[in-house]
Amino acid sequence: MEKKLNRFDLQNMKDSGKKAVWITAYDYWTAQFAEKAGMDMILVGDSLGMCIYGYEGTIPVTMDQCIYHSEAVRRGAPNTFIIGDMPFLSYQVNIDEAVRNAGRFFKEARVDAIKLEGGQRVCPQIKAISDGGMLVMGHIGLTPQSSGQLGGFKAQGRTAESAIGLIEDARAVQSAGAFSLLVEAVPPEVCKIIRDDLTIPVYGIGAGVEVDGQVLIVSDILGIFQAFTPKFVKKYANLAEETLKAMEAYVEDVRAGKFPEVQHTYNMLEGELPKLKVALKK
Ligand code: KIV
Repeated sequence: MEKKLNRFDLQNMKDSGKKAVWITAYDYWTAQFAEKAGMDMILVGDSLGMCIYGYEGTIPVTMDQCIYHSEAVRRGAPNTFIIGDMPFLSYQVNIDEAVRNAGRFFKEARVDAIKLEGGQRVCPQIKAISDGGMLVMGHIGLTPQSSGQLGGFKAQGRTAESAIGLIEDARAVQSAGAFSLLVEAVPPEVCKIIRDDLTIPVYGIGAGVEVDGQVLIVSDILGIFQAFTPKFVKKYANLAEETLKAMEAYVEDVRAGKFPEVQHTYNMLEGELPKLKVALKK
């Protein structure tokens, strides 16, 4: 069994040029597979809003939902570095709430770090949570919780002006005390500048290869999430097709009387049926 990584291992990976690979997971069995597959980290992302609950976005996701799913993931992956994702309105209102909600992830779900979205404007929260002794991962670029302000789920940093804003955000997040940064849907040219500029690990999703590691959403790589597929996703399986095939075959078998078969049933013990019949006649 591999030893669970800590922040210094992750930092050493960046410093030695070894890419980190991680994935989202929302439940016990997916977490088990992720740990067995050797993932360096697991994010219990607020993308669970779409992938598990069928919401249109991440806005309705609650703290309690994130905690329940983080607890399940921790049980499935006891030896993996787990990051809990702070949902919308769990850190935006004020710093005290941000610290208390971050703390819930550590106390109740035993995560190793939390992640929150935003650059300079959430630096007071990043600093306060870090000052509380907790590890914080920043998240800039396409930040789904503020997609309304961004005009939708759009790539960021494609103009010089927007790229400068991101570089300033990245620097601010590091200065506020984040141990790492996730950059979403940003051109590789900009990510390279950010990665080379920052000392902390800079990870990417939809951000090309010039980063210290990659994360993808589990439902996307398994081909199970069907509502939409972002450009940056690579599907490594088509579980939607497999799942549908299996369910249709089950429906067909039961309707045709082909399931269950003898090997799927529990017979009475030898000699017990005649006894039962006699008993019922009395
Ligand atoms: O919620 C999530 O799954 C995320 C991804 C962008 C990694 O934050």
